[in-house]
Amino acid sequence: MKKSKRVKKSNYWKVKHNRDQFFKESKKLGYRSRASFKLIELNQKFKFLKKSTNLLDIGSYPGGWSQVVSKIVTSGKIMSIDLKKMDPIDKVKFIKADFLEVKTKYEISDYFKKNLDVILSDMAADTTGSKSLDSIRTNQLCADVINFSRNTLKPKGVLVAKLFMGEDFEEVKNLAKSLFEKVNFFKPKSSKKESKETYLHCEFLKTL
Ligand SMILES: C[S@@+](CC[C@H](N)C(=O)[O-])C[C@H]1O[C@@H](n2cnc3c(N)ncnc32)[C@H](O)[C@@H]1O
Repeated sequence: MKKSKRVKKSNYWKVKHNRDQFFKESKKLGYRSRASFKLIELNQKFKFLKKSTNLLDIGSYPGGWSQVVSKIVTSGKIMSIDLKKMDPIDKVKFIKADFLEVKTKYEISDYFKKNLDVILSDMAADTTGSKSLDSIRTNQLCADVINFSRNTLKPKGVLVAKLFMGEDFEEVKNLAKSLFEKVNFFKPKSSKKESKETYLHCEFLKTL
């Protein structure tokens, strides 16, 4: 076998091994998805989950992030939203809805009544077979969440959202920078290396 092929093959096994590790670990700990580890890492880095945090989890199915949140947030309100029905989690109010619809946004605002500390979005558009189109569609979801957070988050609130390092990445980054004082990016170790996914962490809304 040629050396380059051998290297590629050993990288493949390394990546697969890491993936299986997170998968096994999530099963062991009772998490519904390996995505739980991404939120755990994000929170270790930025420390936005507190006992009394009021939090919205958008794109929550099957519930890995909501499970992590519900273990830490014991006295705050938690609302989770997805197009797909999520099985119940203690202390989490779930609504099956399209986040992009105006009536969903009214329902969220009505639930939190201007008292929302953290918005999480792990929303991803359905895959189409075209990586560049998928990335654009997911980044549009991210841009929608950024705009929404401007009117719903508390002034010192935090937004954490998935986006892709695609062609419109700069545009979404600039939108975030126009609305928040602090904008960071973080790719958790539990996120697949070959994926262009990263996470935006924003805090302190600008007074416009
Ligand atoms: C990567 S999964 C989320 C995994 C989740 N964070 C977890 O820990 O289990 C992305 C989710 O985004 C949801 N989604 C995509 N577009 C949406 C929309 N417009 N409104 C609500 N949910 C949406 C999908 O249904 C999908 O379940």
